[in-house]
Amino acid sequence: MEEILVTGGTGYIGSHTVVELIESGYKPIIVDDFRNSKPFILDRLAEITGEEITQYKLDCADEEALSEVFEKHPNIAGVIHFAADKAVGESAINPLKYYDNNIGGLVTVLKVLLKFKVQHFVFSSSCTVYGEPESPVVIESTPIQNAASPYGDTKIICERIIQNTVQANPNFNATLLRYFNPIGAHPSALIGELPQGIPNNLVPYITQTANGIRESLTVYGDDYPTEDGTCIRDYIHVVDLAKAHVNAIKWLSNEPAGVVEAFNIGTGKGSSVLEIIRTFEAVNQLKIKYAIGPKRAGDVIQIYANPTKAKTVLNWTAKYTIADALKHSWNWEKSLLTLK
Ligand SMILES: NC(=O)c1ccc[n+]([C@@H]2O[C@H](COP(=O)([O-])OP(=O)(O)OC[C@H]3O[C@@H](n4cnc5c(N)ncnc54)[C@H](O)[C@@H]3O)[C@@H](O)[C@H]2O)c1
Repeated sequence: MEEILVTGGTGYIGSHTVVELIESGYKPIIVDDFRNSKPFILDRLAEITGEEITQYKLDCADEEALSEVFEKHPNIAGVIHFAADKAVGESAINPLKYYDNNIGGLVTVLKVLLKFKVQHFVFSSSCTVYGEPESPVVIESTPIQNAASPYGDTKIICERIIQNTVQANPNFNATLLRYFNPIGAHPSALIGELPQGIPNNLVPYITQTANGIRESLTVYGDDYPTEDGTCIRDYIHVVDLAKAHVNAIKWLSNEPAGVVEAFNIGTGKGSSVLEIIRTFEAVNQLKIKYAIGPKRAGDVIQIYANPTKAKTVLNWTAKYTIADALKHSWNWEKSLLTLK
């Protein structure tokens, strides 16, 4: 059974990817220090998959500790690197935290990967690298723009670090997966997004408003040049996103070393903020209290993926609908009530 090291494997996207790796016959090994996740997720992963998952609690920027993991598991064939800080707003307030963890962590992981001759690397990038694009639908060759936040900047820099490292050491290959907007939760409602404090993303804010943790949702601006005036994003179910990582690992294992490719991982369909609220209300038979607030600086007006490359090269397409994702998010949020 092929072993794949998953940094950030108890986080939102990482945990769903661990499930999909096991379902596809891989043996994931998790490295996470729980700075933005909870150990109970490991029990939930065991419950979903019926397997005890090997995990190491450590900071992936700790070269010595990470090297010990590779010494214990000499057959690790690939690394999926999720571990990073991800709050755009916080990154503007504390940029060094982001440069330190997101870039420092990546550099250490790559050093260790080279030392132990690991063959495949999958990186969590983001559509934020496209900035405010000229056309709302982006392909992988759409120009990378100056990032609107230090967080976005780390993704651009990390992509470049990976490209330069592969070029200088063409003995492994890599994919840069540019995620659009992950939403939803596992259909079992056993794992999902666990925001700490006030959520930064729309859907956890909606679900927390629905269950009374937040009083009301603010929609940031309704006079953008879009059909209903609110921003448009490409929302993708986290299980579909997780499956893209498995396809990326499979694809890399048939590609020569020295290859680095970026892929848009989105549905190809844009939805507005108001559409998401209305769909959530309809599918869950609920009303969400919301108010229109001022625009936020740096918000891109509209962006969605052209996912053709992921379809033709990785043989991957998103299957779930937005309604499925919003149902699953709500089921997950309700399940959290029993934890408190
Ligand atoms: N969620 C999104 O909207 C989104 C969109 C685009 C890209 N991404 C990227 O995808 C990746 C995963 O995002 P997520 O939403 O699952 O985030 P998350 O915070 O839920 O998961 C990240 C995990 O990494 C761990 N971690 C962070 N730094 C670490 C370190 N130095 N050592 C060990 N563990 C560490 C955290 O404890 C957490 O479990 C990140 O790189 C993020 O930037 C996320």
